[in-house]
Amino acid sequence: MTCLYRCGNACDHPAPNESANPYLGDVVNAEMSRRGVVRAGAVGAMVLGFGGAAVAGLASPAAAAPATEALAGGRKPKPTRAGALTFEPVAPNTLDAVTIPAGYRTSVVIRWGDPVVAGAPEFDLHHQTAARQARQFGFNNDFVGVLPLPGCDDKALLVVNHEYTNEELMFPGFTTLDALTVEQIEVAMAAHGLSVVEIERVGRTGQWRPVKSRRLHYNRRFTALASTFRLTGPAAGSAWLRTAADPRGTTVIGTLNNCSGGVTPWGTVLSGEENFNQYFVGADQAPEALKPKLARYGITTTARYPSGSRKWDRAQERFDLAKHPNEAHRFGWVVEVDPFDPDSTPRKHTALGRLKHEGANVIVARNGHVVAYMGDDERFEYLYKFVSDKKFMPGHSHLARRHNLTLLESGTLYVAKVTGDSPAAEIDGTGKLPADGRFDGRGQWIKLVSGNHSFVPGMTAADVLTFTRLAGDAVGATKMDRPEDVQPSLRTGKIYAAMTNNSNRGVGANAPADEANPRNANKHGHIFEIVEDGGDHTGTTFTWALPIVCGDPAAADTYFGGYDKSAVSPISCPDNVAFDSAGNLWISTDGNALGSNDGLFATPIEGREKGHLKQFLTVPRGAETCGPFITSDDRSVFTAVQHPGEISGATVDKPASVWPDGGYAKPSVIVTWRPDGGPVGS
Ligand code: FEO
Ligand code: CA
Ligand code: CA
Repeated sequence: MTCLYRCGNACDHPAPNESANPYLGDVVNAEMSRRGVVRAGAVGAMVLGFGGAAVAGLASPAAAAPATEALAGGRKPKPTRAGALTFEPVAPNTLDAVTIPAGYRTSVVIRWGDPVVAGAPEFDLHHQTAARQARQFGFNNDFVGVLPLPGCDDKALLVVNHEYTNEELMFPGFTTLDALTVEQIEVAMAAHGLSVVEIERVGRTGQWRPVKSRRLHYNRRFTALASTFRLTGPAAGSAWLRTAADPRGTTVIGTLNNCSGGVTPWGTVLSGEENFNQYFVGADQAPEALKPKLARYGITTTARYPSGSRKWDRAQERFDLAKHPNEAHRFGWVVEVDPFDPDSTPRKHTALGRLKHEGANVIVARNGHVVAYMGDDERFEYLYKFVSDKKFMPGHSHLARRHNLTLLESGTLYVAKVTGDSPAAEIDGTGKLPADGRFDGRGQWIKLVSGNHSFVPGMTAADVLTFTRLAGDAVGATKMDRPEDVQPSLRTGKIYAAMTNNSNRGVGANAPADEANPRNANKHGHIFEIVEDGGDHTGTTFTWALPIVCGDPAAADTYFGGYDKSAVSPISCPDNVAFDSAGNLWISTDGNALGSNDGLFATPIEGREKGHLKQFLTVPRGAETCGPFITSDDRSVFTAVQHPGEISGATVDKPASVWPDGGYAKPSVIVTWRPDGGPVGS
């Protein structure tokens, strides 16, 4: 069930990357293997949040926008302390509950069906309509961003992605997807997208709740059903993006499969359109020349209906690629939403390429350009970064805000190619560390396109941006084990990417283990750390290492930064990453292959305590842990509990989870805090 709904049975199909691209083999370039000559320097990063703002490395402190993710507040970031994480880890379990460490509290902030837009109706499971759902909180909350209202310590905007729907957990009497009514399909479409919800602090605590008011200025829903998105960048208006309904190729209805994302230094939210392929049918009748391009994104081109098809063409003809073959190209982008301007039209930025975008996280480089790091979440896909043409403009002025809103519309897109520094013979696919004691090496950012100039032979800039996977193939990018969330630490400038797993690594004719993806049939995933040479986020070379190789700490194939493995929590399938203001790395998981529920973990990532990973919470049965978001004052951890009860055979009538309210399950965003007001984790 998870496979069908979450990614259209992706694992049942061969991975779409059939390129002969190199994996890390025995290529050890002497120059490349020279160990990180330069450590990451001062962080050219935006640092702002509750109560203030600052940019390190820029001439003047920024006071640009109201918030960013997990960034230290107006105060100076605290120095990283060894042993900063003092909470008692929670034990792995299979309970139908959220479990948290002793001394903490947790509560539901908002759940599926709760009213969002002013005047929205209360949820009624048995009388749901698309019109109601389009005004209520959507299904399957994934990314969570919390952006404080300007000058305000106790009001904020909660921005949440609604990645996909589980129709079997939404509609009483559900039998099959084919039996859904058109109205039910439209409910599902309205349950996709994003929500913007004004929230308020409860008392002086770290607890938050939605503001109840008849006038909710900021609250919005964006859906797959009817919301308008504007395309920007070099591919906007190109022939690939034109359709009968949009002959100019500049305006898209809806956003699909919004997975993770990020909060920008200028106070907007980025949202990654991920497994968009599963919503389309009819590719068997698409133009022959287009079929390889569709197939490269996992769209089935050999049958009218892929297995488990949602058949949204029954509600909107545009999802039938036999009639509208370009409609698929209008999804798979990074979406930017300005939650502070309730009249704004969200944009899809073609300059950041078209992939199965997990998310995008932005850092301001020392030279003022902004850099977005991105993962393409599928087995054997690539890591990317985007560097803006324009420079970030600090300040609160309208001018600065208008300027910064254009930063992601033009720039240079790169893909990563990495090499290991240990002899290939020492990487045997078991996860055994090589003789130098580290999985590590060097990497290059290979330029794909800059503005309207393509660096890929035979592809125009619009080709590269619309079929970015093919561009990555052409330049020999490195096949990774499902790159999910990629996020720079604003404390060190190092970048952390979750490689969630890859059951096919080294299986059959698939690429075998290499130093950057060192285990065959990789069930548990790993964390990939990037250190840009000279601390320059706009540069083209870096060193990398694997600080954490996930799984059962008792197993020989796991690694926790060299920390005593008897003292760490088991972790499997890292998905989303975040930082607290002390620079500790927080990791949420999706698909625990160790038999326990998914959870949220935290670990110091520098110093003597590096790798001392502890489980902070567990989510209910069948759920995935998303978000997470630690507020810049460190007083609240927001976590999205996605698809509770998503277990094969379960339905809303026969649920496998009844969290959080009893009866049946509801995806919900929770907040966890310390009643004594202290910083979470520490
Ligand atoms: Fe939607 Fe990559 O998880
Ligand atoms: Ca090595
Ligand atoms: Ca994810």
